[in-house]
Amino acid sequence: MLPKTYQRLEPCTKDIMDKLIIDGGRELTGEVNISGAKNAVLPIMTAALLVDGQVCIKRVPRLRDTGTMVKLLEIVGARTELTGDVLEIDGSTVNNPEAPYELVKTMRASFYVLGPLLARFGRAKVSLPGGCAWGPRPVDLHLKGLEKLGAKITLEGGYIIAEAKRLKGNRIRFEISSVGATGNIIMAAALADGTSVIENAAREPEIVQLCEFINLMGGKINGVGSDELTITGVTSLKPANITVIPDRIEAGTFLMAGAMLGDIKLINAKASHLTTVLDKLEATGAVIDINEDSIRIKQTSEIKPVDVTTAVYPGFPTDLQAQWIAMMSKSTGTAVITDTIYQDRFAHIPELSRLGANIRLEKNEAIVRGTERLKGAPVMSTDIRASASLILAGLAAQGRTDISRVYHIDRGYENIEQKFRNLGAAIRRESE
Ligand code: EPZ
Repeated sequence: MLPKTYQRLEPCTKDIMDKLIIDGGRELTGEVNISGAKNAVLPIMTAALLVDGQVCIKRVPRLRDTGTMVKLLEIVGARTELTGDVLEIDGSTVNNPEAPYELVKTMRASFYVLGPLLARFGRAKVSLPGGCAWGPRPVDLHLKGLEKLGAKITLEGGYIIAEAKRLKGNRIRFEISSVGATGNIIMAAALADGTSVIENAAREPEIVQLCEFINLMGGKINGVGSDELTITGVTSLKPANITVIPDRIEAGTFLMAGAMLGDIKLINAKASHLTTVLDKLEATGAVIDINEDSIRIKQTSEIKPVDVTTAVYPGFPTDLQAQWIAMMSKSTGTAVITDTIYQDRFAHIPELSRLGANIRLEKNEAIVRGTERLKGAPVMSTDIRASASLILAGLAAQGRTDISRVYHIDRGYENIEQKFRNLGAAIRRESE
């Protein structure tokens, strides 16, 4: 029997039976406010474990994943207080550097606590995350990086045990670019003895903001935004405050909704985080108007087919691959979508096909032949971004689409049905 705190983490039967009902084919017009970035706030929350004091994080999105991370921080002993979208975390009471399997298996980002707990306490025990909806997602780069900093890593009963009296700065070169491994090593190196250099570091805006947060706390990271980071370890950090950047993946999702179905203005969206996506949307014929903190997109008569190959930032994000396939299902020709980051992230294709999409998968390439009409049908979410693609396709389809297992979408999108309803969509949540 799981202890009380863990029970709330499993999607309870109600959540699993929750579904979204969409009556498609309506035009979407109006404004949508983009929430704080899930993939920025999660590592920032774990960076709070580096500090013997209280940090304040603003524009925290209300997601299943941020809720899970709050639970994890409490399990390791931190104190948290969430008021509206402001989260205060006090790391001074951390006393249990262990992250349990029951929790880590529900959210891979839990693995981000390994670096900070090891750096601060000299020992950490974190469950291996296990697989996810689209296949194995290893953590070997995280572990090799920590070993380079002098950690002793052992595997016991599915748990990683990392130990180091004091981590030592070193040169670490990632053979492939990894957002999570870069984040974990940055947090570990921030308190190491001496200087570390990370080569082939991830440059995603979420990692840039993690570096900014650590520097605000007194850390010494140079090269922020580049793929080579120089981190001079300090003996301790002091509390700081930060406002989370807008979620570029949520923004990309709504941009595609506008290109498919109407005229949408995104408020609190950073075009500079979406250059490749905006270029691709323009190539489909969408009309885009960019301002400092907003982006307006208008659908035109037809959606031209545009090929996409995912890549690390600033390339086209793998987290928008499923949504792009949904959009290309309504194009006037054939488009090829290739995912080079995850070769098997295509669980959404059979579900999109149930709505009439014409998609052929060859290894990690989806060949999408656009069709005039998609028709509503019952479909099932398999992961966060697959769910988003089903919502886009359901909104564009004629008739009713029921999307089950809505807890997936709630992991990464805040109030999604409310945001689409405000744009004119006929979408509601129902428990079966
Ligand atoms: C982050 O996951 C994001 N999650 C993912 O978003 C995103 O899809 C991914 O980066 C790629 O951009 C968060 O930020 C919380 P990686 P992460 O390490 O860090 C391989 C969403 O929908 N790899 O950059 O786990 C890996 O298999 C989620 O919001 C190793 O081989 O991704 C993949 O092929 C889904 N060994 C590639 O690197 C490792 O030790 C990139 O993965 C680590 C990764």
